[in-house]
Amino acid sequence: MIALMGAMPEEIEPILGYIKDYSSSEIAGNIYYTGKYKGVEVVVAYSKIGKVYSALTASVMVQHFKAKKLLFSGVAGALSDDLKIGDLIAARKLCQHDLDITAFGHPYGYVPEGKIYVDADEELLIIAREVAKEKNIPLKEGIIATGDQFIADPAKKEWIRKTFNADAIEMEGAAVAVVCDAFGVPFFILRSISDAADMDAGFDFEKFLKSSSKISADFIMSMVDKIIR
Ligand code: ADE
Repeated sequence: MIALMGAMPEEIEPILGYIKDYSSSEIAGNIYYTGKYKGVEVVVAYSKIGKVYSALTASVMVQHFKAKKLLFSGVAGALSDDLKIGDLIAARKLCQHDLDITAFGHPYGYVPEGKIYVDADEELLIIAREVAKEKNIPLKEGIIATGDQFIADPAKKEWIRKTFNADAIEMEGAAVAVVCDAFGVPFFILRSISDAADMDAGFDFEKFLKSSSKISADFIMSMVDKIIR
């Protein structure tokens, strides 16, 4: 079973377009679509926005649906200047920028028995590089910072970029990463840029959510093609 996940309906709609023949079931307030893609079982769902909902959905995909791999598709805000709207970034590692117990002398993003950065699966990254090369699609790799905030502020953006050396920002990736890492399930987080986390971010996000979601979903499905071959 391969799990394909997004946070918002717009992020999984293009994926469901590839699956076509699926049935749905509801668990803990989310709808999970299961079906076969080219003969292989897949489960598709959007979690709702944020770390808690996305951790819940990732857990259900692993524990209930027995996902052996989880691929996340969606949009992100750019922190790095060389990421433009529509560009693709694959997470090499992910962190929680809003996790803060620095009052106890710990670094930002760290809690005891956790880690600041969770590494994405190397084999899935290799598959992503192969897809990018074969289809001649530029794919960046970097650090994705996750938190329960939509960032639309140059000062906050700069703080997160500097503190975590992060390239892109979103609201689910690190939560999904923590869950998959804990269960030992290989995961891959892909994002297409929808905005630059600046003053225009709200406007840009709404304008580019659909088109960037499609760019990300198409790439993810090319990866699935390779995984199942
Ligand atoms: N997802 C897409 N753009 C974002 C932003 N600016 N902040 C947080 N999550 C996002």
